[in-house]
Amino acid sequence: MADLWSGRLPGGLDPAVRAFSASLAVDWRLAPYDIRGSLAHVAMLAHVGLLDPAEQAVLERGLRELLAEVDAGAAPWDPEAEDVHSAVEAELSRRVGPVAGKLHTGRSRNDQVALDLHLFVRDACDRTQAAVRGLVAALVDGAEAHRELLMPAYTHLQRAQPVTVAHWFLAYAWMFRRDATRLADARHRADFSPLGAGALAGSTLPLDPAFTAGALGFAGPYANSLDAVSDRDFAVEYVAAAALIMVHLSRLAEDLVLWNTREFGFIEIDDGWATGSSMMPQKKNPDVAELIRGRAGRVFGDLSALLTLLKGLPLSYNRDLQEDKPALFDAADTVLACLEAAAGLVRHIRWRPDALSRALSAELLATDDAERLVRQGIPFRDAHGRVAARFRDGGTEPADPEAVRGSVAARGGLGPAPAAVTGQIAALRDWLAHPL
Ligand code: ARG
Repeated sequence: MADLWSGRLPGGLDPAVRAFSASLAVDWRLAPYDIRGSLAHVAMLAHVGLLDPAEQAVLERGLRELLAEVDAGAAPWDPEAEDVHSAVEAELSRRVGPVAGKLHTGRSRNDQVALDLHLFVRDACDRTQAAVRGLVAALVDGAEAHRELLMPAYTHLQRAQPVTVAHWFLAYAWMFRRDATRLADARHRADFSPLGAGALAGSTLPLDPAFTAGALGFAGPYANSLDAVSDRDFAVEYVAAAALIMVHLSRLAEDLVLWNTREFGFIEIDDGWATGSSMMPQKKNPDVAELIRGRAGRVFGDLSALLTLLKGLPLSYNRDLQEDKPALFDAADTVLACLEAAAGLVRHIRWRPDALSRALSAELLATDDAERLVRQGIPFRDAHGRVAARFRDGGTEPADPEAVRGSVAARGGLGPAPAAVTGQIAALRDWLAHPL
């Protein structure tokens, strides 16, 4: 297969350079977007009179045929092609003949790859948002089922004040709800079409960028061609949102690993969601949580790779930009897999009320004791000192469960009181019921 630029360099590419620079092994997954983009481009070329209706029909038929095969999971192209754009164009030309040569009218691979990436990121935002919602639903269900179950909450990993298991679940639900809004926001800024930018400075042909943008469901075209071919902000923003999701997932995973230890014993993981040890017969390990925690680093690496890739690039397109794809794809694959695994894990843990109630010790009510003195008119600093004296020896004793329940019930507002938690659950369920 001749390279798209063989007219300028007819001697052919050194096989070592071909192997070094080819990207089909990575960018083949852009094919469905690439073909949809080409269909819109063909419609625009016909609209402005650069293709006649017969040419349009032949190209559209060929592209639709390819799209159907690709959507069905096939890879109908020469595996030796340089990249997905050359691969699709060569296969189209094999099928429909020389008219395929008109497809690249007014278009460069520079605006083409940028377009494919915008379509990929828009989709990734939607798929990631759906997965975030699935996890929030699992967390809210967990909260609903454990509205009254008391647990100690920690600062500095020291017992601090009492909450409910529901309140703990919902803390994570709110984090992921923020993540969903971040994805929606990233999607808005990804929603512009770079087609019409050509290689970097547009085209002398009478293209209609608003037409292609509209056909692909974008809010509109870019305003500046140099920006359009070199902008990867939208990919950075998606990966940054994915990185923050991974932070939240990793913290959730860490809590579960900790609660699952013999030392805490707050939860038990269902057998199907835990693993054993090849050597130690007694082991039941929380590997799903550990893998989620471990994979966070990969996504942070992807974000770092993208930022570093972009920071020194002169305008406009540079081949360095080909390296955006491994990072972008890896971040999307990783965050989606981890969100689904986390939702599954959350639905496969059981809480152990015995262990939780053993952990409800009197120190959890120390602040309440001080506040009781405040209600009698004693300045808080003095009250603090008086109560603190009781805990100086570091000892601990069980709390009266009814006193703990009373303490939690009194903590309304942002606190864990069941009445307040009911409000949190209702707000999150309402959000889940109204997709963005
Ligand atoms: N494979 C290239 C990439 O991913 C496509 C654009 C190539 N453009 C070029 N002028 N060589 O960026």
